Amino acid sequence: MEHTTAIFPVEPSAQYRWWHHGIIYQVYPRSFQDSNGDGVGDLKGIITRLDYLQWLGVDCLWLSPIFPSPMADFGYDISDYRGIHPLFGNMEDFDELLSEVHERGMKLLLDLVPNHTSDQHPWFLESRSSRDNPRRDWYIWHDGKADGSVPNNWLSVFGGPAWEWDTHTGQYYYHAFLKEQPDLNWRNPEVQQAMLDVMRFWLEKGVDGFRVDVMWHMIKDSQLRDNPPVPNAPGDPANPLYDDYLPVYSTDQPEVHQIVRMMRELTDAYDDRLLIGEIYLPIPKLVTYYGQNNSGAHLPFNFQLLTLPWNSREIASAIDAYEGALPAGSWPNWVLSNHDKPRIASRLGLSQARIAAMLLLTLRGTPTIYYGDEIGMTDVPIPMDEIVDPQGLNMPDMNVSRDPCRTPMQWSPEINAGFSARKPWLRLPYNAARVNVEKQKNDTHSMLSFYRKLIDMRKKSAALSVGSYSPVYSDGQLISYLRQEYDETFLIILNLSHRPAYFRPQNTSYNGIIKLSTEEERIGMHVANVITLAGDEGLLVQIDN
Ligand code: GLC
Repeated sequence: MEHTTAIFPVEPSAQYRWWHHGIIYQVYPRSFQDSNGDGVGDLKGIITRLDYLQWLGVDCLWLSPIFPSPMADFGYDISDYRGIHPLFGNMEDFDELLSEVHERGMKLLLDLVPNHTSDQHPWFLESRSSRDNPRRDWYIWHDGKADGSVPNNWLSVFGGPAWEWDTHTGQYYYHAFLKEQPDLNWRNPEVQQAMLDVMRFWLEKGVDGFRVDVMWHMIKDSQLRDNPPVPNAPGDPANPLYDDYLPVYSTDQPEVHQIVRMMRELTDAYDDRLLIGEIYLPIPKLVTYYGQNNSGAHLPFNFQLLTLPWNSREIASAIDAYEGALPAGSWPNWVLSNHDKPRIASRLGLSQARIAAMLLLTLRGTPTIYYGDEIGMTDVPIPMDEIVDPQGLNMPDMNVSRDPCRTPMQWSPEINAGFSARKPWLRLPYNAARVNVEKQKNDTHSMLSFYRKLIDMRKKSAALSVGSYSPVYSDGQLISYLRQEYDETFLIILNLSHRPAYFRPQNTSYNGIIKLSTEEERIGMHVANVITLAGDEGLLVQIDN
């Protein structure tokens, strides 16, 4: 059954489902709200903040993993796919959260981690118990080479070799991430069925879909061939890093699409659910994850804005390349930040973070907001002896810890920023009493007010949420484009530089009213022909009819 929506003055056609026009908000549960004073966020805490999320105007929450886990990779190492980690609460709390989310007309997505389990998962404990255990083939086991060395040159994303020796059974197992995260063997039909059963379990409970972790990693080359080195890689050959090789045999194998299709079929057997894939690949490869005739992921996460240098020409051409590469009938999406990458305000500075917000919320496609970006949270410097992220600990000289972008949400000037009654699991920034939701809520010039206005405009406008996209032009400073639906047209002009700029398209001009600007004072003004922008300014202009 397809659901339409009544949020627009003119109802969009039934082809749009909630996730076409909805806004996704990523919650990192450890850091959102602590309710029991143990310094770690939990489900009951999230429930107390749902009114805030509704006020903000987002439509869908995606929760990073909440399942039982030894927490070697903070929940991305799952030891029971059908439970709730006691740190976060219990199944009753989850049911309550789900129903509270639904009562507010919102949706809830879970994080599905199908590529690997925890090494403490009963499946792996069985698999490693003996070579003839029925679950041996559920993971990727292999003999060493004749000299006893690792089966091939694949490396772990988190540093070091991707093969771990198991003394007890005398073979290596493969782990794309930590050795505590052995990769499942997705060529085994029993593994496929077991994971589909996990999905079924949560779909039956009523969750609205999944964000699938490292979707492009799920199947590896059946012959386990060596990955080729990146030509002229700058790295140290004696101490190679993951990025020194092209992962052409360890990721993005053609067979992965059959698996994604199976996941999609199951998802589609339920009413109005959503399947998102986490995929870091260049655009031409990324879009193959929509699947033939859109039988793959509804939304293969598009990380262009998160990975590209912040340069107007590059961003503009990436937008157009992406729009141009989308298969017929597929729907775009955009992500600015997540729990694995530096925060947008730290990458770009606070002024450009507003431009980034305008881009995210005025482009065609489903936006995903990372918690805290709406108040301009920045990466928190974590002293070396407080680092807990395994990526940071394993590569201490590379400054790649993900802790700085995972710090507690800053709610208020109270103790621990209103996040917890006790010392939080990661420290807060020194300015938390100044930069928080409570302070920003009543300040019309704050980042939060800016986000809220943008979200509100997007939600009320068919042009901005589902309308067509057409580029106007870009240069060394500006990106500009039109969004249009019915008789409503918006012109968006974003200055990605710090210096003033002129919007001066050739052979055409636009007249209209400024509906939103990073410079509040300009709202309501009429503009025509050559439009002057301040440095770091973004304009949303409603074109005169
Ligand atoms: C994904 C997650 C990341 C995790 C990794 C291994 O990239 O986003 O946080 O460490 O997968 O599961």
